[in-house]
Amino acid sequence: MKVAMLTGGGDCPGLNAVMRAVVRKGERTYGDQLVGFVDGWRGVLEAETLDVSVDTFRNTLPRGGTVLGSSRTNPLKVDGGLEICKRTMGDLGIDALIAIGGEDTLGVAHQLANAGVRVVGVPKTIDNDLSATELTFGFDTAVQIATEAIDRLHTTAESHNRVMVVEVMGRHAGHIAVWAGIAGGASYILIPEEPFDIDEVCAALTRRHELGNYASIVVVSEGAVPAEGSFQVARDEKDAFGHVRLGGIGNTLASEIESRTGFETRVTILGHVQRGGTPTSFDRVLATRFGIAAIDAVHQERWGEMVALQAGNIVPVPLADAVGTLKLVDPDLYDVARVFFAG
Ligand code: F6P
Repeated sequence: MKVAMLTGGGDCPGLNAVMRAVVRKGERTYGDQLVGFVDGWRGVLEAETLDVSVDTFRNTLPRGGTVLGSSRTNPLKVDGGLEICKRTMGDLGIDALIAIGGEDTLGVAHQLANAGVRVVGVPKTIDNDLSATELTFGFDTAVQIATEAIDRLHTTAESHNRVMVVEVMGRHAGHIAVWAGIAGGASYILIPEEPFDIDEVCAALTRRHELGNYASIVVVSEGAVPAEGSFQVARDEKDAFGHVRLGGIGNTLASEIESRTGFETRVTILGHVQRGGTPTSFDRVLATRFGIAAIDAVHQERWGEMVALQAGNIVPVPLADAVGTLKLVDPDLYDVARVFFAG
């Protein structure tokens, strides 16, 4: 078979590990010819491909990013975009496509599958907000990076009796904030799922100071929102999938905390550091398992399905289940974090 792969949306540690596994099993076990579309759906729309083989992915297991490049190009926003994608597949004689991406990339894959394209999905996002899979690769790496940063911030916060605001990624869901916040012993964690009341946050930090802890760490997801009437955060620029460009809530939050409590406050925005660099061993293994399952799914003709992690096993699920709604933070886990808020 001639099998194509693409990586779409924000990059993520482990993308190369997925493709390495697809190519290894595809070439060696099934005798497939493998090809990659460059820069996600842009490569499909413009029929730009890269021939790949086992050799292409040598030494890429520990390498972050994606050998194929990625973009947020959305074929659904292009006139006749789905038709163009179908035509490219036909013109290039591609028998099947493995789309590796998050909600947006897999949303397009789902529409293409409905239009008769032979496509299989692999779940990817450091945000871990994709439904139907317990975990996406890249998330563990991001949590690890954020936790290390919080560990480091504790000592400088304590030396200066400061509040440290740490902004992490998490557009719609606060998985990174909650996991890194619990692991790093945060004094408060703010997530998109729970609009926060700035007065409550400040009261809790003040209480903490009264108990004799003069340093605090506040972890905030970039997508966290103040409760209505609390204060305003400016957000306007949008990408091709209509998402507002986030980042910056940490700055606003820090100045609100400082002016309301009088505690000296500093902010660290981790940003793309969380997405770059080498994947953890956990993510390398998960990505490898996903890659092997994806090429197996192609040969089992499981079109319109995605490989997913459920109860420790890799299983196929309909793409429709993955892209319908986002997977949010489990309220029970947030309650665990809450016990430690500003104590
Ligand atoms: O891929 C998800 C994500 O990392 C979000 O957490 C973040 O809001 C967004 O990507 C950033 O996107 P970009 O790299 O396009 O600025």
